[in-house]
Amino acid sequence: MQVPESARAYFDKQTARLQRQMKKKRIAFPEGEDPRVIAAASRLCTEELAIPILMGRPQGQVASCVVVEQPENNPKLNDYARILFDRRRSRGITEMETRKMALNPLVFAGLMVASGEADGFVGGAATTTAETFRAAHMTVGMRTDIKTASGVMIICTHALECGAGGVLAMADPALMIDPTPAQLADIAIATAETTRNVIGVEPVVALLSFSTKGSAKHPLANKVIEARRIVEARRPDLHVDGELQADAALVEAVGRSKAPGSTVAGRANTLIFPDAGSANIGVKLVERLGGAVCTGPLFQGFNKPANDLSRGCTAEDIYRLGILTALQAGE
Ligand SMILES: CC(C)(COP(=O)(O)OP(=O)(O)OC[C@H]1O[C@@H](n2cnc3c(N)ncnc32)[C@H](O)[C@@H]1OP(=O)(O)O)[C@@H](O)C(=O)NCCC(=O)NCCS
Repeated sequence: MQVPESARAYFDKQTARLQRQMKKKRIAFPEGEDPRVIAAASRLCTEELAIPILMGRPQGQVASCVVVEQPENNPKLNDYARILFDRRRSRGITEMETRKMALNPLVFAGLMVASGEADGFVGGAATTTAETFRAAHMTVGMRTDIKTASGVMIICTHALECGAGGVLAMADPALMIDPTPAQLADIAIATAETTRNVIGVEPVVALLSFSTKGSAKHPLANKVIEARRIVEARRPDLHVDGELQADAALVEAVGRSKAPGSTVAGRANTLIFPDAGSANIGVKLVERLGGAVCTGPLFQGFNKPANDLSRGCTAEDIYRLGILTALQAGE
C-alpha cells in the first residue's frame, strides 16, 4: 500500500521544525548497543534532529555526533542513585540497592531524564512494556496534574480532509484497559497536549462512543459523557465534545447532522476511545485496512517524555519515535 501523503508532509514539517531548534533535545537510548538503535540514533544526529545519548559500548558505524554514556563510569551515578533512593526510601529500599538499580541502563536513562541531563528517553527495544513503564514510573515520575499514564498513537492517514491534513492522535490503545470517567478525562487532557506538541496544531478533542449526543442510552455512553464533563470542568480552554461516533467526529457533513452546534464534530484531530480494546482495534484497522502510518505509542502523563518501543521494532520505527519524543519534549 502507498505511504499516505500526510505522512510525508507531517514528517517533513516536523523534521524541519526540529532542525530549526537552537537547543536540540537530548534523547537517551538505554539499548545503546543494539544495531537498530545505533542506526536510528546516528541518523537522528546527522540530520540534526536531536542529540542521541547511547548507553553502553556501541560498536560499528556510530556517527561521531552521538553521545555515549557508560552508567558504571559516569561521575553522576551516585547522584542519580540518590534521586532514586529519595523517591523509594519510604518503601524500605537501601542506598546500596538503588545504586545497583541505577546501573540498569533503562533506569539510568530515566534518571538522566529526571535530573535534566536528558530531555526524554526511548527504551523498550529489548524490554517488555511493563519493564519500560516501571522504569519510567520510578524515575521520571507522574505529573501532578495527570494521575493516569496512557499511550497515544500518531496516525497519518490517506484521508487528508480529516484531522490535521490527515494526521490524528488516537488514545489509548496501550495502557489503560478500562478507564473510569476520571481516567478517561486524564487521557483526553494529556492527548490534547500531545496533539499540540507533537502534531503542532490546536487540539480538537472528540470523546468517541457508539452513540452521538444521546442517540443511544447505555452506561458505556454515560461513561464518556461523564468524562467530557470532567474535562470541561478541568480545562475550559480546550475544544472538547462527546459522546460522538467516529463519523460525526471526523466528517463535517455527518457532524453537522448528528451533532449540530458542536465545535468539535466534523473537525476532530484528537480521538479518545472509551477503552483500550476499541482504541487498539481502531488503530490496527486504520493501519492494516486503511494504509495509515501509525507511530507510537508515546507514553503520556509522565513528567517528561519516556517512551516504549516494541521489541520487534525496526531502525526506522526507532528513528520515528526519536523524532516524536523530541517533539513531545516541547519547544
Ligand atoms: C502499564 C502496565 C504495564 C503497568 O503494569 P505494571 O508494571 O505491572 O504496574 P504495577 O502494577 O507494577 O505498577 C507500577 C507502578 O505504576 C503505577 N501505575 C500502573 N499503571 C499506571 C497508570 N496507568 N497510570 C498511573 N500509574 C500507574 C502503579 O500504581 C504502581 O505505582 P507504585 O509503584 O507507586 O505503587 C499495566 O497497566 C498493563 O499491563 N496495562 C495493559 C497493557 C496491555 O496489555 N496493553 C495492550 C496492548 S499493548
